[in-house]
Amino acid sequence: MSYPYQIKSVEHYHEQYQKSINDPASFWSEIANNFVWHKKWDQVLNWNFNEPKVEWFAGGKLNITENCLDRWAETQPDVAAIIWEPNEPSEKTRTITYKDLLLHVCQFAQVLKNNGAKKGDRICIYMPMIPELTIAILACARIGAIHSVVFGGFSAQSISDRIQDAACNIVITADGVYRGNKVIPLKSVIDEALKTCPSVEKTIVYNRLQLSVSMNDGKDVWWNKEIQKVVDKNIQFIPAESMDAEDMLFILYTSGSTGKPKGVVHTCAGYMVWANYTFVNVFQYQSRQIHFCTADIGWITGHSYIVYGPLSAGATSLMFEGIPTYPDAGRFWSIVEKHNVNILYTAPTAIRSLMSFGKEPIEGKNLESLQVLGTVGEPINEEAWHWYNENIGNKRCPIVDTWWQTETGGVLISNIAGITNAKPSFATLPLPGVQPVLVDEQGNNIEGNGVSGNLCIKFPWPGMLRTTYGDHERCRQTYFSTYKNLYFTGDGCLRDQDGDYRITGRVDDVLNVSGHRIGTAEVENAINMHAGVVESAVVGYPHDIKGQGIYAYVIFNGEINEEVEVKSAIAKTVSTVIGAIAKPDKIQFVSGLPKTRSGKIMRRILRKIAEGELTNIGDTTTLLDPSVVEEIKKNRL
Ligand code: WTA
Repeated sequence: MSYPYQIKSVEHYHEQYQKSINDPASFWSEIANNFVWHKKWDQVLNWNFNEPKVEWFAGGKLNITENCLDRWAETQPDVAAIIWEPNEPSEKTRTITYKDLLLHVCQFAQVLKNNGAKKGDRICIYMPMIPELTIAILACARIGAIHSVVFGGFSAQSISDRIQDAACNIVITADGVYRGNKVIPLKSVIDEALKTCPSVEKTIVYNRLQLSVSMNDGKDVWWNKEIQKVVDKNIQFIPAESMDAEDMLFILYTSGSTGKPKGVVHTCAGYMVWANYTFVNVFQYQSRQIHFCTADIGWITGHSYIVYGPLSAGATSLMFEGIPTYPDAGRFWSIVEKHNVNILYTAPTAIRSLMSFGKEPIEGKNLESLQVLGTVGEPINEEAWHWYNENIGNKRCPIVDTWWQTETGGVLISNIAGITNAKPSFATLPLPGVQPVLVDEQGNNIEGNGVSGNLCIKFPWPGMLRTTYGDHERCRQTYFSTYKNLYFTGDGCLRDQDGDYRITGRVDDVLNVSGHRIGTAEVENAINMHAGVVESAVVGYPHDIKGQGIYAYVIFNGEINEEVEVKSAIAKTVSTVIGAIAKPDKIQFVSGLPKTRSGKIMRRILRKIAEGELTNIGDTTTLLDPSVVEEIKKNRL
């Protein structure tokens, strides 16, 4: 198989880029012609960033699963769609061909229907990294239900918030999951969450670990028993629901600088075209290559580069259930060797963590199958980049540094593997269709090269978010109101003398901890739930492995006999409210927080102190009580 829209050379990239800017409608309609449609679109693009309104391929009708499954089941039925590697190396690998994946998806889609699911319903998926997760996602899409996948590491309360926000009527989960040498009891977390989710009528439970779980009569059903009913009726195929191009495909919650996480909404056609186009081009995917994206499907990276991008391209996608350091820090390299992986896409935090184990875990592993490496999720430091290049890629594999966001659906800025130049710690150039601009605080365009500013995008691309679920105004406020007629990314960015882009990190109150997005306000709210906490302020600080660590300043009026115990109780509160990923790395008790006379916390000062910059913290004269700063500095952890 070949992809007519695959970029072939540097000149071709520049030519395609120009075409995408000069005539977006004809550029994208040529690409969209490579997909299966029930009806072609009436209008390629209709947009207005003020509302915001963005429609791609409006009037078109399609189903993304026919693009991911049916067409490949017909032309390459026995090619592996998914190779699954379990947490335990001793457990059996599973390989699922396109023909079989279509069968499984149709059967589970029928299960969903039997349990009352309809087009437009919201279905929450809280599953381990097993093929059934991909099957569940695609089965939702098959019948036109909107999936909302929640990362397996989130707490009952976080799940409940997300289920309530979207008023989901069905939850799909499993009894439990292995993560390294731990067993995580997913079903009991769901039971806890559902105490506050009246909209949920059914829970479908996959039996992964044979754990004993409580099953609520009439409401909870077993995945395999439901499948058996469908098999007994000999149902092997169900037709795909015909969806409007702009119907919702999925919701994925993500953190911002204020309030609770918001449900980013992606729609059927534009997202499909973007996930596919970026997958095929950035990684330069060639027929039959094995693509291994190490992300969890609970995040956007897994949605776009384990599920929809690869499968819509008829690729073989490797899914891994475990963690990089179990049973040892050579796990990724063993998987590469065992399955002859060609493309490896992972996060800088994973690279830094594996780097810290030295070369021993790599020695004796055959990594010759690798052809392309990628990184995503946070800025990659040069040291990690070189380590990846030398030890994993053996200096012969291009590394793509892909910058994007949950909201962008797929990669926006990246070099193209083996075609455009890589530059350590630079995402480099925008993909066709992407028009980045740098602006100053007032929103003035910063022209030219060798400049820095806030990164915005001035023209829509097919994969961009359409709204935030249930609250369109929040979408407008968050992304389209800071700068007029621009989508604001929240990232700071440098454009160097060559015109290459380097993302320098968030400029808002969003942390990036091990590649996970966490809002400081969210963590503060969670800390404040501890009965003894009066107030708190959370900032990020540089962390060798995680990229950013979480530093919490806490005013505590409860009793402190054992400081360690109180701190661990506070951390536990955060785990309960959000999940273990948001636990503070450092908690410092303070008697007050640096506030302006109007009561605003001066995070800038707290950030500097957390970073260890004690001499140059800027003007403190406007503070209500400048003396707290001295105290905080003195007791810094
Ligand atoms: C950061 C993940 C530097 C950035 C796909 C962005 C990056 C946030 C890169 C989105 C990169 C992602 N270089 N920073 N290559 N990729 N980021 O929504 O701050 O989980 O705004 O999407 O991660 O995180 P999200």
